[in-house]
Amino acid sequence: MRMVDVISKKRDGKELTTEEIGFVVDGYTAGKIPDYQVSALAMAIFFQDMTDRERADLTMAMVNSGETIDLSAIDGIKVDKHSTGGVGDTTTLVLAPLVAALDVPVAKMSGRGLGHTGGTIDKLEAIEGFHVEITKEQFIDLVNRDKVAVIGQSGNLTPADKKLYALRDVTGTVNSIPLIASSIMSKKIAAGADAIVLDVKTGAGAFMKTDKDAENLAHAMVRIGNNVGRQTMAVISDMSQPLGFAIGNALEVQEAIDTLKGEGPEDLTELVLILGSQMVVLAKKANDLDEARAMLKEVMANGKALAKFKDFLNNQGGDGSVVDDPSKLPQAKFKIDVPAKESGVVAEIVADEIGIAAMLLGAGRATKEDEIDLAVGIMLRKKVGDKVEIGEPLVTIYANKEDVKAVEAKIYENIRVSDKADAPRLIHTIITE
Ligand code: URA
Ligand code: CA
Repeated sequence: MRMVDVISKKRDGKELTTEEIGFVVDGYTAGKIPDYQVSALAMAIFFQDMTDRERADLTMAMVNSGETIDLSAIDGIKVDKHSTGGVGDTTTLVLAPLVAALDVPVAKMSGRGLGHTGGTIDKLEAIEGFHVEITKEQFIDLVNRDKVAVIGQSGNLTPADKKLYALRDVTGTVNSIPLIASSIMSKKIAAGADAIVLDVKTGAGAFMKTDKDAENLAHAMVRIGNNVGRQTMAVISDMSQPLGFAIGNALEVQEAIDTLKGEGPEDLTELVLILGSQMVVLAKKANDLDEARAMLKEVMANGKALAKFKDFLNNQGGDGSVVDDPSKLPQAKFKIDVPAKESGVVAEIVADEIGIAAMLLGAGRATKEDEIDLAVGIMLRKKVGDKVEIGEPLVTIYANKEDVKAVEAKIYENIRVSDKADAPRLIHTIITE
């Protein structure tokens, strides 16, 4: 087989065979096919698209390019949740202990964040002593015993995706639905999930800025999952404004604790109940979504969800007593209110720009090597649709430096007050095929 023939075939809009896709992925991973030929193919895919069968084949070829995680030693149906990423997205911290409190096994492999704020691991490291450097055996034992554990990303998962993603990044081929969908799904499948719940974000703070793009991506991922034997569904949720109030690592841990007690922000709580119900049903712990939702609300109300979070932190070296005394979390030196300059209704809080403002404070990384400050961040005091009086705080900045002029300027530029505005719809669509 010759790579040039595969490229020409896709350029002309024809469907590649399973063998051809395997040839490309294996050859590229092994260093036998050069970057320039794979970039030409990626560009051809960008313009000519791929059929459902090609997408499933590409995904599985990338899964098989490296190590895969075998979770068969864990009892029950392992359901993973994946978010396409957003600002102040505290859902994983809440969902993991919440569904584990209903005996849904959560065997989570997580990464660190780049951009906006930290990833799940960074947020958890705001808790003194907590670590994800546990062995695979410890990980499996913890999930079997207490239903929830988080382990750091293993080195050699989907190497083909790593190489291809880096190449796409510099060849203008990131934004292709078949390539994004296979990239994300290959990582989830290699990490061992039996079933997958996707939270596809839409709006300013999301990878997909419009509903139509978000829906296309969601359909593509759901079809791949179902075609390769992993039950998959997607929720399309709003990311025009940040989720909840907290943006920043320790602040989000505090927000997660509040939400596990049933005292969290309305939007975060609702999203967690929607995603959690889907997970509970996929794990066959409830017969339908209504039953699952009632069960989730019950463990929020009776303290079981919070107790599960505490056990989970203690199990991995963390100081679980933070759930009773959140003042043990890293605290910022300065708390600076940013007052509204006019009265009215908050009409817009541009999610990605507010995420950048939090990053300027030190809550996120601009490059992989950056250290993050776990204590700093931004607390929204108003959300879109809320009334505000002149002088009332729009946000509070949590900083470890006194001069936050650049951050304040960014906040004023990106929170718009007008006469009238409605809260955005949180859940746009649910996609099951
Ligand atoms: N995230 C991924 O993991 N892969 C993509 O291709 C795009 C976003
Ligand atoms: Ca949040």
